[in-house]
Amino acid sequence: MAAARTRSDALVLFGATGDLAYKKIFPAVYQMEAAGGLDGRVIGVASSDGDDTFLRGRVRDSITELVPNFDQAVLDRLLAQVHYVSGDYREEQVYQDLAQVLKHFERPLFYLAIPPALFDDVITGLEHCGVASNGRVVVEKPFGRDSASAKELNDVLHKSFTEDEIFRIDHYLGKESIENLLVFRFANSMLEPIWNRNFIASVQITMAEDFGVGSRGKFYESVGALRDVLQNHLLQIVALLGMEPPAGADAASLRDEKVKLLRQVRTIEPGNLVRGQYRGYIDEEGVDGGSDIETYAAVRFEIDSWRWAGVPWLIRTGKDLTSTATEAIITFNAPPRLLFTPKGSPEPGPNLLRFQLGKQDGVKLHLHAKKPGEDLIPEPIDLEVSYAKALGPREEAYQRLLDDAMDGDARRFGREDALDEQWRIVEQVLEHHEEVHLYAHGTMGPKEADRLAADVGGWLDPVPPVSAP
Ligand code: BG6
Repeated sequence: MAAARTRSDALVLFGATGDLAYKKIFPAVYQMEAAGGLDGRVIGVASSDGDDTFLRGRVRDSITELVPNFDQAVLDRLLAQVHYVSGDYREEQVYQDLAQVLKHFERPLFYLAIPPALFDDVITGLEHCGVASNGRVVVEKPFGRDSASAKELNDVLHKSFTEDEIFRIDHYLGKESIENLLVFRFANSMLEPIWNRNFIASVQITMAEDFGVGSRGKFYESVGALRDVLQNHLLQIVALLGMEPPAGADAASLRDEKVKLLRQVRTIEPGNLVRGQYRGYIDEEGVDGGSDIETYAAVRFEIDSWRWAGVPWLIRTGKDLTSTATEAIITFNAPPRLLFTPKGSPEPGPNLLRFQLGKQDGVKLHLHAKKPGEDLIPEPIDLEVSYAKALGPREEAYQRLLDDAMDGDARRFGREDALDEQWRIVEQVLEHHEEVHLYAHGTMGPKEADRLAADVGGWLDPVPPVSAP
C-alpha cells in the first residue's frame, strides 16, 4: 500500500558515517528539529563498530562545524533522538537489529546514502525483516550510470517500494532559486507571450565552480561532469525554463509537464559536445594518472516543440573555473532596426534576462536606456534584484527535501520516466566523444568550446550578483 501523505515517524540513514551524512544530512536534520519539524527518531546505520554515543559524537561534530550559531538546546534535543545500528549490509543481523529499534515505528523513511551497488542487499534485507512495507526510500543522484543501470536500480527499488514511495534526490530541485524559475515564469503574465522561438534567440546555462574535485577524486573518476551535474541538475533547469504551464501545483502535474519537455529535447550529438579537464586533475588524490574523465562539459542541443523549435540551448559546466556561479540566461532577439546607433559606434547587444541561481540568487534584466547628452545613443543598463534582499532568508535544499520526503510529498523529486529521458538525452555522448581538452586553472574552460556558441554571440560569462544586505 502506498504510504501517501502520512508523515514518516523515523529516519533511517544508511551510510551514517559517510561524507554526505556529515556534510548535508545531519545539518538538515538539525534545521528540521530547530524548526520543530523532525518529530521522530533518527537511526543511523553503517558498518563501523560503535554505539549510540559514537554516532551522537559525529552528529555533534557535524553541527558544531557546519551550522553557524547553532542552538545547544536544539542540538541536545536532536542528539537524544539519535540511535546507531552497526553491521555488514550483506548480513541478516543488521536488519534484525534495525527491526528491533523500529518496533514501535510505523512509517520509516530509509535514506540510502550509500553506493548504488549496495542497494540490492539493503532493499532485500529490509524486505526480509519486514520493515520495508509502509516505508519510503530516498536515493541520491546520480541515479545509475546510463539508461540500463538506472533501469536496474529502479527494478531493485520496485521490489519493495511503489513509485510514490521512492524519492530520488536531485538537490537542485530543493533550491529556492531553482524553484523560483517556475514561479517567475508563470506568475508574471508579461513573460508568457514572449517566452518562445519568436522572441528568444538562444538560451544558455552556465554552472561554474572555482574549485577542483578536492577529496572526491575517486568518486569523480566514476562520473565526470556529464554524469555528476549535467544529466541531472542542469537538465532540471532546462525543464523548468522550457516546460509548458502545469495543470496544477501538485507533484503529478508538475512532473508530467517536465517529462513532456524532456521528451522533446533532442539527444545530444557527439559533435555538439566539448569536454575539458583542468590541468592538475590527474594529480588529485584518488584520480587515475591517465584519466580522460571530464571536469568540464559544454553541449548544444535543440528542443523539438512548437515553443522552442530552432532555438539553440547551450549548457556548460566545469570545475576549477574563474568563479563559482550558476546562471541561466535568456537572450532575446535583437531589435530589427537600430535607429539610434550613430555610424561607427558599437551596436547595442540584445536584451538578456539573467537568472542568478547560486548562493546569492537574483535576477538581472539587461536593457538599454538613453545615454545622457545631445545624441540619441543607447547605453546598457540593468534592472536587478537580490532575492536575499527582497525576500529574506530561505531554507537550505537538503532541509526542504528531507522534510518533503518525510511528508511523502514528491513535487521536488525525480520521477522514473523523467530520469529515463535525462539519460536518453546524454546517452550518445557518454560513450562517443573526443578526448578531453586541457584547460588552465582560473579560466572558463577549453577554448575549443567557443565554436558551440560562435553563432549566438559567444558564451556569456557569469556576472557578479547584486550584493545582499
Ligand atoms: C553535486 C556535485 O551534486 O553538486 C558536485 O556532485 C557539485 O560536484 C555540487 O559541486 C554543486 O552543488 P551546489 O549546491 O554547491 O551548487
